Amino acid sequence: MCIEEFAARAHSFFTEKGIDAELFEGSAGKGWSAERTQIILRTYGLKTRVLAGDFESDTATNIFGTQITFPVMPAPLSGAVKVIDRDCFTRIADESKAAGVLPWIGYPCERRDIEGLRDFIWIIKPLKDRRMLYREIEFAEERCVAVGVDLDCFAFEKIGNRIFPYEYLKALSFDELSDLVSITKLPFVAKGILSEIDYDLAVKAGCDAIVISNRGGRILESAVSPVEVLARIEKQITTGIDSFLRSGEDVLKVLALGADFVLVGRPVVYGLTIENGVKAVLECLGNELKQTMKVCGFRNLKEINPDVLVQL
Ligand SMILES: Cc1cc2nc3c(=O)[nH]c(=O)nc-3n(C[C@H](O)[C@H](O)[C@H](O)COP(=O)(O)O)c2cc1C
Repeated sequence: MCIEEFAARAHSFFTEKGIDAELFEGSAGKGWSAERTQIILRTYGLKTRVLAGDFESDTATNIFGTQITFPVMPAPLSGAVKVIDRDCFTRIADESKAAGVLPWIGYPCERRDIEGLRDFIWIIKPLKDRRMLYREIEFAEERCVAVGVDLDCFAFEKIGNRIFPYEYLKALSFDELSDLVSITKLPFVAKGILSEIDYDLAVKAGCDAIVISNRGGRILESAVSPVEVLARIEKQITTGIDSFLRSGEDVLKVLALGADFVLVGRPVVYGLTIENGVKAVLECLGNELKQTMKVCGFRNLKEINPDVLVQL
């Protein structure tokens, strides 16, 4: 099954259960940001290699000191996905591990849903109550392999023309981010960077990793594609990317542009609608990446480089 097929199955599930699919599937306005990423991805062609000999491509890599089977992981999702499966966080954690990758967990989520989990990456929100934010980081300390904040989520999310304001959140300043980074011994992730200037600031604040993202287009209709930003930045630290990446070819393209890993959000939402579906979705992308690497002549991830791309 490819991701489109998982999406189709999820849509039948939403209809059957009377769940408002738009809350998960939707993005701001008319969905231009999805189109923009698809357009930019389409401008990159992949050169194949037919005389590189026979081999099996190795997709394994290391993130935050943990070996993972392939560089595609579940994007952090909030407790909103509990409507689909009450055990969503346990499932995301267990099925990611079964697929050989690290689980990312979003916010808010109830304590009882995550206190039993270990070795995940927890992305907290920029809580207006800064003392609470510090307490959450402390909570992460003995459970997580990394912690971070979704920096782009401080004002609202927009789905279609519906605006969901976030009264309990407030943007972090550079000094506040630097302070958060300094209080934890865990690797710190800045998620939601979408400009060269913020990328450099997050590096300067001491972050260990950055996720370039437009939050799946759920803030601005006209947000640039993270793929465009990735192509423009000068990579300095571990850099991931998400938003509208849906196939092994998409993954190979962003790895060739310098990304170290990819997160997928809605595909994981689709996976939650079927038994063992999160694992299946992740493995689908991992296998597609492996096949694409083979056809493009890459034996391992280190060999991937921008020469494989030709832009229209
Ligand atoms: C239902 C839903 C809930 C989300 N919750 C969070 C969250 O709690 N924290 C966060 O950093 N991002 C959250 N996101 C954004 C995702 O982490 C990710 O950036 C986005 O979904 C990537 O785009 P994709 O869904 O097209 O792959 C959420 C996205 C969706 C669809």
